[in-house]
Amino acid sequence: MRIYKAKNETDMSRKAANIISAQIILKPDSVLGLATGSSPVGTYRQLIDWYNKGDLDFSQITAVNLDEYQGLGPDNEQSYAWFMRENLFKHVNIDPTNCYIEDGLAEDPGAECLRYTELIRGLGGIDLQLLGIGPNAHIGFNEPGEALEKDTHLVKLKETTIRANARFFTNEDEVPKYAFTMGIKAIMQARCIVLVANGENKAEALQKCICGTISPEAPASFLQLHNNVFIVADEAALSLVEKTIPIEQSIIL
Ligand code: F6R
Repeated sequence: MRIYKAKNETDMSRKAANIISAQIILKPDSVLGLATGSSPVGTYRQLIDWYNKGDLDFSQITAVNLDEYQGLGPDNEQSYAWFMRENLFKHVNIDPTNCYIEDGLAEDPGAECLRYTELIRGLGGIDLQLLGIGPNAHIGFNEPGEALEKDTHLVKLKETTIRANARFFTNEDEVPKYAFTMGIKAIMQARCIVLVANGENKAEALQKCICGTISPEAPASFLQLHNNVFIVADEAALSLVEKTIPIEQSIIL
């Protein structure tokens, strides 16, 4: 696990975007696993900027997203399909037919989960997976619990997640209660993982992720077992980790 301490959100986004752009340059036909939420927005903005400057080419890239709310279609502004279009895809030369996300409107959720699991397998897995982290240490929507599900599944969102995500909706009641998410297997089999986190409300989750017991009660703790993980986080998010592991600028654990 390599941990990079960023000065602030902008610095975090640039550092993460640097790692992703290296991946795109080294392997132009990479399969990128992508995340939504507020954490990766600056990273996407930076990638768009470099694309506009002619430094990046997305024409051969395939994108597979982590998760989607059940009940929201791609034309709903709160859907993650919409988010990805607005925050990245429509600004770069990625082929929209190579952008995949679970179908929030799928009539048969079980079949949709199987389809998505098979799709990722068929793509040969993920070259680089970008992750955020929930305040409860979830990754994707793999919520804390007694066990983790391996493959794509439908998950009942925890109250903490609904509360945390309510900021994107007019009120808490509007937040869907269920979501599709990639399972822990596809995430852990990604050949490289980049997790971005900023702000004090991620400090506890990051401590569990980096220094905690490896347990389904903190899904992000499983990243300790992966041999190619970059954690890019600002000082506030690393504040609790730094109580046990001081970090100058970066550290390899
Ligand atoms: C989003 C996702 C979630 C978020 C996490 C943090 O696709 O999979 O795990 O990364 O909830 O969300 P933000 O970045 O909004 O704090």
